[in-house]
Amino acid sequence: MTAFELRDLAGTTAVVTGAASGIGAAIARLAAELGMRVVLADFDVDRLDEVARGIAATGAEALAVRCDVTDPDDVERLAATAYEAFGPVRLLVNNAGIEGTGRLWELSPDTFGRVMDVNVSGVFHGIRTFVPRMLAAGTAAHIVNTASIGAVTTVPAQATYCASKHAALALTECLAIELAAERAPISVAALLPGPVHTAIYETAEADGAAGTAARERMETYLRENGVTPQDAAQTMFDGLAAGDFWIFTHPERADELLRNRAERLTGHLTPG
Ligand SMILES: NC(=O)c1ccc[n+]([C@@H]2O[C@H](COP(=O)([O-])OP(=O)(O)OC[C@H]3O[C@@H](n4cnc5c(N)ncnc54)[C@H](O)[C@@H]3O)[C@@H](O)[C@H]2O)c1
Repeated sequence: MTAFELRDLAGTTAVVTGAASGIGAAIARLAAELGMRVVLADFDVDRLDEVARGIAATGAEALAVRCDVTDPDDVERLAATAYEAFGPVRLLVNNAGIEGTGRLWELSPDTFGRVMDVNVSGVFHGIRTFVPRMLAAGTAAHIVNTASIGAVTTVPAQATYCASKHAALALTECLAIELAAERAPISVAALLPGPVHTAIYETAEADGAAGTAARERMETYLRENGVTPQDAAQTMFDGLAAGDFWIFTHPERADELLRNRAERLTGHLTPG
């Protein structure tokens, strides 16, 4: 991917899913600060409107669109609305995501299905709806999919989340390869946050005692150790401008986990 200056984004359009809270809201605010027109998507309309109003109050153009990313028709409406209101989309951030905790054999099919639907199908719907429009426009565009550090490791009592993020990362890598093969002017990046202090565990489904304990442990951990959503958003834009595919908010911790994983894989060792 080629590097560019963040100021080149001024006057162009960003679409951010999961923009009512946390990392998505911070990305939307930062996009507006960079001079972008912002389309904010989420199914939590009350909080979404509040974030959009806050952005509009700064003088930036912001449009809130109710969208459940698990519903292909909603995502289609999101794209149609964005292109009609603001023209070609320069930046799409498929960021909406949820957590679900519990040991695998104690997880309800509902929790498993919901996490996979939002975190994997949501990203897929974003890709299949926006990429054809970006290709048709023929202008520079960027797609960032929010995965997680959990996309390159495995964590007990978070199997469904890790599985969904491994899948979201695989989709992102394949998309990058496919678009490069087409010589499309579309860059692809994976945002892999470590701990960020957001509401993600407050809304997480927790199944069984291990799931409840994991959710409480992680909620405390993010509160005490997480970086701010603003920091995560800045890291994303810096990585994007640098032309990075892998955008880690905690690169040192990621390196440790990646080395451990590579050693276990190449050494044919059991997970741990
Ligand atoms: N917070 C962290 O430590 C952390 C770490 C790694 C990855 N992530 C990822 O970052 C992304 C953002 O999470 P966050 O931490 O900001 O959480 P958050 O809960 O603060 O925000 C997530 C937003 O997504 C929205 N959302 C959920 N399901 C949706 C759906 N079906 N359709 C539309 N919107 C939906 C929620 O309403 C919420 O506004 C997620 O993909 C998450 O997995 C977060």
